[in-house]
Amino acid sequence: MKTARTKICLIIGDPVSHSLSPLMHNTAYEAVGLGEEFVYLAAQVKVEKIKETVEAVRTLGIRGLTCTVPHKTAVILYLDMVDETAQKIGAVNTIVNDQGHLIGYNTDWIGAITPLKQRGDLRGKNVLVIGAGGAARAIVYGLMHEKAHVTIVNRTAERARALADEFHCLWIDNASNDFISSQDIIINATSIGMHPHIVEVPIQTCSIHRAQILMDIVYVPHETEFLRQGKSKGATIIYGVEMLLHQGIAQFELYTGVPAPVDTMSETLKNALHI
Ligand code: ATR
Repeated sequence: MKTARTKICLIIGDPVSHSLSPLMHNTAYEAVGLGEEFVYLAAQVKVEKIKETVEAVRTLGIRGLTCTVPHKTAVILYLDMVDETAQKIGAVNTIVNDQGHLIGYNTDWIGAITPLKQRGDLRGKNVLVIGAGGAARAIVYGLMHEKAHVTIVNRTAERARALADEFHCLWIDNASNDFISSQDIIINATSIGMHPHIVEVPIQTCSIHRAQILMDIVYVPHETEFLRQGKSKGATIIYGVEMLLHQGIAQFELYTGVPAPVDTMSETLKNALHI
């Protein structure tokens, strides 16, 4: 039961109606006995309205604000403080309202790095990141933090170069089959393969082999064509839902200050995605 003391957390995006975050967080609140204390809602907000939205968060005393596309960069300007990591990444996805003081964090990089680290140490690993947008920024930051050898490839080569310069890693114009097979880990950090364009793949997979790990940030469909092809070659695959889960775990803990019920959150996502 919600009461006058219930704290509100809100995810904003455009679009946002597909988001699984409200379901994941509300189920988690119930699981740890915080069902009365917290509620997590969603609102569709245009990027031009981000200033007013942050003002509303202050006025209404909203406890947590989650930003998804396209707000992660735009919101920074209106916060009181941005945590050092989020500053380096240049994007905020989690804002905590600490008695009127708004602090921005980024949990996307944790979401990507946690499932990778669960498969082994990243230090010295050759990692190819496809994409140079906001998601790629968080992933590249995380990989460099773990001392991996990162190479970026992107449709717009200039963006790959700029990102590589900023994070002191490598970039390439085009990933040849030889280069692809030389990598330990390959990550799709673009929206390629996302519903409804489910037959598209971000790179050729003919040289993928069983010693490699493939990861996708796309989670609708659960198994993208990229991962399906990689799996058929025997590669280890990491589904996009794992990133969603782990960024959500870190976010839950920032909003509530309580350890997240990991299994409940994982089960909730699996059920919602019919996995
Ligand atoms: P996000 O913040 O979600 O990462 P973004 O900043 O718009 O979103 O970045 C999207 C990434 O996916 C970019 O790397 C983009 O390539 P460009 O820099 O060339 O735009 C990539 N991307 C999206 N759709 C693509 C497509 N159909 N083919 C190739 N790359 C694509």
